[in-house]
Amino acid sequence: MARSPHLCVSALFLIAISSLCASGAVGQETKTKSSASAGRQLFLSTGCGACHRIAGTDAQGEIGPDLTHLASRATIGANIMPMTSENLSKWIRHTQMVKPGARMPSFGMLPVAETDAIVDYLVTLK
Ligand code: HEC
Repeated sequence: MARSPHLCVSALFLIAISSLCASGAVGQETKTKSSASAGRQLFLSTGCGACHRIAGTDAQGEIGPDLTHLASRATIGANIMPMTSENLSKWIRHTQMVKPGARMPSFGMLPVAETDAIVDYLVTLK
């Protein structure tokens, strides 16, 4: 009998923790979704589409690789690094350092929040 209040408190604690986790996860997903749609706009407005094609968008460039299924690839930059968000961000911000002579200018002048949003969009391109 003396133990039941403790059990109740522990149970409540667990519920509180799990609902906190759940709401955190939902918040994160919503953020990534809105960030990806901002990234899609930024991709188009920043001029990436002048060189890259993404099927189903106004991006119809032909100088760079077609990015329609970028996120399904194992590597980027013609095999120079694994396809991860971090490497995409590096690629976009420091193109000429990552691959000197690449026919893509570095976009390090963009605010980090904008390149992050573009990356959130690019990783949805399966
Ligand atoms: C002047 C043309 C040009 C512009 C503008 C441009 N790119 Fe590129 N991009 C290229 C070329 C060319 C490559 C291939 C480089 C290589 O591998 O040597 C490339 C490669 C890439 C890759 C790696 C693709 C792969 O197949 O591995 C990504 C991702 C990328 N660009 C994203 C972007 C984003 C995002 C922007 C806008 C912020 C952008 N590019 C603007 C020409 C361009």
